Amino acid sequence: MAKDRIALVTGANKGIGYEIARQLGEKGYHVLVGARKADAGKQAVGSLLAGGASAEFVAIDVSDRASIQKAAKTVAATFDHLDVLVNNAAIMEDAKSITEVSDDTFLCTLTTNVLGPLRVTQAFLPLLVKSSEASVVNMSSGLGQLSDMGNTYPAYSISKTALNAVTRQFAAALRDKGISVNSVCPGWVKTDMGGANAPRTVQQGADTVTWLATEAPRDLTGQFLRDRKAIPW
Ligand SMILES: NC(=O)c1ccc[n+]([C@@H]2O[C@H](COP(=O)([O-])OP(=O)(O)OC[C@H]3O[C@@H](n4cnc5c(N)ncnc54)[C@H](OP(=O)(O)O)[C@@H]3O)[C@@H](O)[C@H]2O)c1
Repeated sequence: MAKDRIALVTGANKGIGYEIARQLGEKGYHVLVGARKADAGKQAVGSLLAGGASAEFVAIDVSDRASIQKAAKTVAATFDHLDVLVNNAAIMEDAKSITEVSDDTFLCTLTTNVLGPLRVTQAFLPLLVKSSEASVVNMSSGLGQLSDMGNTYPAYSISKTALNAVTRQFAAALRDKGISVNSVCPGWVKTDMGGANAPRTVQQGADTVTWLATEAPRDLTGQFLRDRKAIPW
């Protein structure tokens, strides 16, 4: 299909992911709304279309390799390139302390939050390389900063540290292909994950991602950013 600019956002049915999809839609992207639950994904697409965006649902469970491969195949059957990939989907189901975290919690968190973005980026790479200026954004968290790490949300925090390493590896691997790859911390944002006490809005949380995808300098890659500025790893 001859769409000019195409973006895929995983976990776009709600929260920051939905807002990223909305902002990219507003900027003229055709947005592929990635969601694991069809009802929620289609409902989000309905809202985006009602707001004047161009959007469609793509079924993708980032914890399931077969689902990721199926999604990539489905998208490749319709589109000849992908300009923006936002690896936003994540879970935060955690133990209170690293001294108690179970194998199951740890493996499940790493599968979704680390292997998910890694596999999704690999699966969509054939489409990303066909874009003239592709951008991959991995939604990370300040909790993954080694420079400021304590003993809270152990599995989640470690998953985001590992995701930042995934960002660095892909940034180095894809620099020559002109594909930028960055990590973003959205700040503490009011969503189902962030909770009601979070001080930031989804608009604030999504801003740096949209900026990276649309306006940031093309040579900005391999960075960890919050509020459009590099932050320590
Ligand atoms: N909120 C914050 O304060 C904060 C702070 C730092 C970083 N972040 C990061 O920002 C991103 C978005 O967070 P949020 O606050 O918007 O969270 P949220 O409201 O809980 O939304 C998370 C999204 O990820 C999806 N998801 C989870 N597991 C999935 C899977 N296996 N396959 C596909 N989709 C999956 C969820 O789908 P379902 O609806 O099906 O569950 C939902 O759409 C995450 O990467 C999070 O780690 C958030």
